[in-house]
Amino acid sequence: MPELFQLIEAVILEPDVNTKCESVTQLQLAWSRGKLNRDVDCEILPFDDPGRPQEPVLVDPRQLKRRSISSVEGRNCLLHAFAHIEFNAINIALDAAYRFRDMPDQFVSDWLLIASEEVRHFGLLESELRRRGSRYGAYPAHRGLWDMVCKTRHNLLHRMALVPRVMEARGLDVTPAIIEKFKQVQDQPVVGILEEIYRDEIGHVRIGNYWYRWLCEQQGVDADATFRDLIEEYMDGRLRGPFNRPARLQAGFEANELDSLERDLARKMHKFAQSR
Ligand SMILES: [Fe+2]
Repeated sequence: MPELFQLIEAVILEPDVNTKCESVTQLQLAWSRGKLNRDVDCEILPFDDPGRPQEPVLVDPRQLKRRSISSVEGRNCLLHAFAHIEFNAINIALDAAYRFRDMPDQFVSDWLLIASEEVRHFGLLESELRRRGSRYGAYPAHRGLWDMVCKTRHNLLHRMALVPRVMEARGLDVTPAIIEKFKQVQDQPVVGILEEIYRDEIGHVRIGNYWYRWLCEQQGVDADATFRDLIEEYMDGRLRGPFNRPARLQAGFEANELDSLERDLARKMHKFAQSR
């Protein structure tokens, strides 16, 4: 039987977008049908740079132009930025399944399922870009998401806290306003795609929350206090709001935790206002 982790490794390193996407779908199917062997002893690579096409060119986030939704070009550029997030999300989900070998099979199943949904999201955005005469790679992009993956590769609890519970959860906060803007310019195809992605992303954050709490329980640490400590350690305490409470609750955050994180945000805003 083929071996799970070697196959995931090959897919992460695959630079061709179409091959990567097709391989993820096949890999997830093979795993879900019990057709793969699991050898936890095979080597774990760091993946400083996962396989990706030569374009987009990666630049510092500050070098990226602001995108206006009112022009066709601005909307293409935004669509491209979303496609880049989804492309990264494929590698991010695969890396979780690959790296943390002492987790149960359900953990692998969850992250391979997420990877296959990210492939679908990427495909929707990439075909919409092509329909508009553009393509993935036509604009520069940045590697912010992958940097956080590298920083947390030594610790799964940190990974679950910082990637699904911070970065992906932030996506839930901001997406409804972006959808609203595309509605205002009557760009229905993008509205439809973003609504579908948004629904799935709630599920992804929910899975991240589930495993975060599972790990906290296993390690005997307090989930809320640990999360706060990690926000300090990795982000200088700068968690961003405001929160999309209904979506975050659906995605497995608890009301108490959101209350206290919101109080922290309000305190920081107050301090900031006083210091000006
Ligand atoms: Fe996604």
